[in-house]
Amino acid sequence: METSRRTVIAAAAAGLTAATVGTAHAAGGKKPVRELFGRLADGTKVHRWSLENGGTRLGVLSYGGIVQSLEIPDRHGRYRNVSLGFGDLDSYVASSPYFGALIGRYGNRIGKGQFTLDGKSHQLSVNDGVNSLHGGAKGFDKRVWDVEGFTSGSDVGLVLHHTSIDGEMGYPGTLRAKVTYTLTRHGDWRIDYAATTDRATVVNLTSHVYWNLAGEGSGSIYDHELEIAASRYTPVDSGLIPTGELAKVAGTPFDFRRTKTVGRDIRVAHQQLLYGKGIDHNWVLDKGITARPEHIATLRDPSSGRTLSIATTEPGLQFYSGNFLDGTLVGTGGHVYRQGDALCLETQHFPDSPNHPSFPSTVLRPGQTYRTSTVHSFGT
Ligand code: BGC
Repeated sequence: METSRRTVIAAAAAGLTAATVGTAHAAGGKKPVRELFGRLADGTKVHRWSLENGGTRLGVLSYGGIVQSLEIPDRHGRYRNVSLGFGDLDSYVASSPYFGALIGRYGNRIGKGQFTLDGKSHQLSVNDGVNSLHGGAKGFDKRVWDVEGFTSGSDVGLVLHHTSIDGEMGYPGTLRAKVTYTLTRHGDWRIDYAATTDRATVVNLTSHVYWNLAGEGSGSIYDHELEIAASRYTPVDSGLIPTGELAKVAGTPFDFRRTKTVGRDIRVAHQQLLYGKGIDHNWVLDKGITARPEHIATLRDPSSGRTLSIATTEPGLQFYSGNFLDGTLVGTGGHVYRQGDALCLETQHFPDSPNHPSFPSTVLRPGQTYRTSTVHSFGT
């Protein structure tokens, strides 16, 4: 049975388990600390912010809002960084497959980078074959965000701002994005996304952390156990664009309604797994869009006991099994990343929604505020 961080903190506060959980669990966060991480080619400074609360340690870059490290304890209180990344800015700029980054304006693909809104067609930046992926060639992951640290009650956090100008990457409207990262006294990492626009546009923001709960660089995640509360998923074509069908997961490798290991069915000869070179699909969450974050997935590493539980307001979850990690990148701890060394669980609206009127809408109009929230809770 999973022990939540709340239980651990309560026990630690009572002095019951100090020997096993160490001293780092004391509730009450420290003020976020900023240091210089590097400079872009044009001299722009990039900072790294360190946050700690409720037993979770987070390192965030102003470049891309990137989670550069996320450290949590195992069942013996031993900390590991469970998020893939790099130790230096140049590596992020040169060749990051979105490690830890904020994704915008549009998480995942838009077919041929085209959509029509209010009778007007738009051509986006195309950066994935003929399609537009994660906002185009220079998405939110490659922008330097304005970042401020805060403490509020028992929470600590960062507020990140980025203004994307009208026409950037082909998207209509000036989009003002605000993302709040909060570490709660329970060690939960919460993300609140907000955005406004001055012209009708589409928006779908998410976070691209690559999880390995045994520690980044420690090997494959195929033994991780995963549960996803979704009875349907969106099958794709060979370019990973949804066909529009909401297919049942029952009887397919995509059925994670009951906990199973990530690797159990990953080599089943299913056409959809061939298209994705593994799992690279959007799950249609049973709960749909909700006003408050609701539980949708649990990931567990049996070796360390670490668990990640995700709750979101969003209707979709992109589960990507790290298929394109190909042994060419050396990560934060000095190890080579290979296929299946991490997985992403990106809460979102469905890929290519602007071209599928039957999918939940991603349209944002002037006067409206886009708001979504996702909470990551950790335990052992
Ligand atoms: C996509 C993958 C893509 C990866 C970035 C995921 O969200 O679904 O197809 O390769 O991001 O490396």
